[in-house]
Order: sequence, then structure tokens, then C-alpha cells
Amino acid sequence: MRIIRSKKEMSAISRQIRRQEKTLGFVPTMGALHQGHLSLIQRAREETDFLVVSIFLNPIQFGPEEDFKRYPRVFKRDARLCRREGADVVFYPKADDMYPADFKTSVSVSELSQVLCGRFRPGHFQGVATVVAKLFNIVSPDIAYFGQKDAQQAIIIKKMAWDLNMPVKIKFVSTVRQNDGLALSSRNIYLKPKERKDATVLYQALNLARHLIKQGNVSARDIVRRMKQLINKKKTAVVQYISIVDLKDLRPVDKIKGKVLIALAVWVGKTRLIDNIIVNV
Ligand code: PAF
Repeated sequence: MRIIRSKKEMSAISRQIRRQEKTLGFVPTMGALHQGHLSLIQRAREETDFLVVSIFLNPIQFGPEEDFKRYPRVFKRDARLCRREGADVVFYPKADDMYPADFKTSVSVSELSQVLCGRFRPGHFQGVATVVAKLFNIVSPDIAYFGQKDAQQAIIIKKMAWDLNMPVKIKFVSTVRQNDGLALSSRNIYLKPKERKDATVLYQALNLARHLIKQGNVSARDIVRRMKQLINKKKTAVVQYISIVDLKDLRPVDKIKGKVLIALAVWVGKTRLIDNIIVNV
């Protein structure tokens, strides 16, 4: 496995792989890898000939009050895990190289970026779309893998790739959970023991929604109310939003039908956690 820091070198490797008519799989990450990332890497490893994992803590997707400074930076450990999982290249660019002082361009996917998490994290998805567009241009993957845990992000990237005719296929991979249902996230390490226990309520609330829908309840408003009630029982948890939206356009639905995304963001202590499920009625 090679660790590549230069954009030029990364693009040269990618061109070489294309000349050999091999498929190039790509897993973009910000490091602090956990089993969720590893499941993306494993899937990409199975499905493609040459696997690139990028590790880049993207400053422009963090708001001024967010956790950019304290976000875990554990490159050596991450690189070890990538090697273990059979990555061919870890692309580890420097921030100055990705964003030189005269950098001026951004990619913004309208509407999809303004709802759900976008309402509370202005500029976040623009930062994500911009860096992923850059990474796609440098790495030129055939297939890129994104986790369902960040469903809105994955949907935005898919739309960006389609709208901008990027020759890359976007694949979504299921969320990986701990035994008690908590979705894996690099931010879980911020949770104190009591908060970690309370954090299971996110998945419990999503399961409650699934159960109510199975029983025939189609009122999004009622289901959201019941989910909120459940979460509010936990002292350390404060709901930021719970939304039930159409899976394609992320518009809120009143009556649940077809494929919907049930998504939520909850502050547990000082940590903001997100989770979601897709329900097909
Ligand atoms: O999901 C992430 O880790 C990041 O948002 C991504 C896609 C690597 C872009 O920085």
C-alpha cells in the first residue's frame, strides 16, 4: 500500500490504472476510521480492482463553532487499518495543497443542501460537495462508496455527480451499528458514559417510527411527535430535528407512502449525533 500526498502523483496513478483497464474504487474519509468506514472499504475492495482511500480532514465543511479542532487525528492508526483491509493507496493530501490561498470555487447542490442537517449547518454541504468534487477530479474513480449513516450527504453527492456529468457511480452502504443500536461515528468517542447509554435512544426512536408505520400509522406529524416524546425522556438528549422526507428530493411528507427517509439529529450532552432509516411503505 502506498501513501500518496501529492495530487499530481495521485492523478498519475489513477491514469495508469485506467490504462490497464482496471476499475478504481474510492472511499473518501476524514480519518478516525471505525467499522463503518471499514465496511465501505471492504465493499469497495470486493467490487473493484484498485482501491484508493482518502484521508483528509476537510476544514471547509466545519462551521466556526464546530469540532474541527478537536476532531480526532490518528493518521498512523488509520493507515494501518487501510493496509489491513487491502487498500492499494491512501491519498493523504495537505490542506494547503487542497486549498491554496487563492482558492475561489465552490460546488453547491441547491435545495437538497438546505434541508435536514443543512438547516442547522449552513455551508456544511457546500464544503462537502466542493471537496468531494475535487477528490473525484484528482482520483477519477469508477465507483465511490458512501455510508447511509450520512444519507443526506450521499444523496447530495449522487445529485452533484449526475448534474455535473461526473463519470463516477455512487454506491450507498448500510449503516454499521453497535450491539445496542448506536450508529458508529467518529464523534461517539466524545460521549461520556451516561451520554453513551442515552445515545441509544436515537435508534430506539427510529425503530419506534418503523413499528408505528408497520401498524398502519401514516401521519408523519404523529410519528415525529411520538419519537420526540421518547427521546425527551433521556436527560442528556436534546432533539435538534426529526424529519420524515421523500427519499428522492428530501421534501417533507405529511402522509407516509413510498420510500421515505426518517432522519434525526440529537444533541447528547455536547455531542451532536445523527441517524436515519429508510422505510418503504
Ligand atoms: O463523510 C465524510 O467523512 C466526509 O464528509 C467526506 C465525504 C469524506 C468529505 O469530507
